[in-house]
Amino acid sequence: MTQTPEATKIYKGLAGVVVDTTRISQVNSDTNSLLYRGYPVQQLADKCSFEQVAYLLWNGELPTVEQLSEFEQQERAGRVLADNVKAAVDLLPVRAHPMDICRTAASVMGANHPLSEDSSREANMRKALDLFAAMPAVVAYDQRRRRGLQAVPARDDLNYSANFLYMTFGEEAAPEVVQAFNVSMILYAEHSFNASTFTARVITSTLADLHSAVTGAIGALKGPLHGGANEAVMHTFEQIVKDAAGADGTGADGSGSGVSGSVVAGSVKSWLDIALADKKKIMGFGHRVYKNGDSRVPTMKAAMDRMVAHYNRPDLGELYSALESAMGEAKNIKPNLDYPAGPTYHLMGFDTQMFTPLFVASRITGWTAHIMEQLEANSLIRPLSLYDGVDEREVP
Ligand code: SDX
Repeated sequence: MTQTPEATKIYKGLAGVVVDTTRISQVNSDTNSLLYRGYPVQQLADKCSFEQVAYLLWNGELPTVEQLSEFEQQERAGRVLADNVKAAVDLLPVRAHPMDICRTAASVMGANHPLSEDSSREANMRKALDLFAAMPAVVAYDQRRRRGLQAVPARDDLNYSANFLYMTFGEEAAPEVVQAFNVSMILYAEHSFNASTFTARVITSTLADLHSAVTGAIGALKGPLHGGANEAVMHTFEQIVKDAAGADGTGADGSGSGVSGSVVAGSVKSWLDIALADKKKIMGFGHRVYKNGDSRVPTMKAAMDRMVAHYNRPDLGELYSALESAMGEAKNIKPNLDYPAGPTYHLMGFDTQMFTPLFVASRITGWTAHIMEQLEANSLIRPLSLYDGVDEREVP
């Protein structure tokens, strides 16, 4: 075997490695804060629409009234799905994961785009806006297709979040639901060099087009160690409720209702003990950068609490708190954004598998901002590896 040079240090998972600068967002683990272009994300979630935040991420400044109005018009005009995107989605089996549908749709949209091979900032801004406007239509179309329902056309008198919910459920959502959804979109929009954004930057660094980078980023986000965790949280809750229903003798319908709080708390603890003994990762907990809590969780948790009240589902709030406390006691590991986001989307009525596509719809803004930033000062991303296979030998 080749000897490992003493001086070569391996940065497994690139943990702790700073690979470039960025002006888009700042994740500060010491203060548990997150800034988009200098603005605290909590304030943006409180005061802004997702459209304003998208504009901010791409342009570096919040829009003026006139700029926002023009931007909203462009977004509303782009909410249509091309026939061949619909046809491509329809060709895919409903047993395929909805992230496969998003990935395919992004790829077809790239092939369709008249500016596909143009990577100027102007062209990329147009492509980013087109993807941002159309992805909710993909997600809503796929959610309805899975339920055997006709697609609902977009409404251009509704903002991004209200229209997203309208296209998905076929009726206008209550203002507090729209507001909670808007908060989730803002919180999911951007988070520096996370795995999917880094994937997008790696692909961009080869000078491949924007849609190729976004398609790759969607693939990276699908994994349960990254974006796929929001749906995995719901599976955990369903399993715990099933165990509790068995213990309570009330039957296991998976809804959580009808199972008493103390039985749920007991089931949480026994489920967690077994999972940790099996060395399982508990989805929705822990973070590569934040070691003392994810800066976005309090804002998302507050939105979740409003949805728990709106839909009168205190059982879900209790389950959330019971697992959070048990995980704190057992491992002192805190929730990440996916932990409150999953149950929030469940309460709104999305199928569990649609949660990560919702993350895609939001993160398109951050990915494309990074793609444009990468191109401003591009250098091919190509690290080294240390070979530790067999020594050179002759083919017999
Ligand atoms: C996102 O990077 C970003 O910014 C991502 C994101 C974004 O906005 O883009 O914030 C979105 O991806 C959130 C993370 C979603 N993933 C999950 O919820 C999956 C569950 N969490 C993990 O597996 C884990 O915490 C990671 C993947 C998120 C981070 O993992 P690290 O930094 O590689 O840490 P690790 O796996 O090496 O864990 C360190 C220790 C280990 O214990 P020891 O071996 O040292 O004893 O912490 C333990 C781990 O076992 N640990 C967990 C755990 N998370 C960490 N143990 C049980 N369950 C967990 N969730």
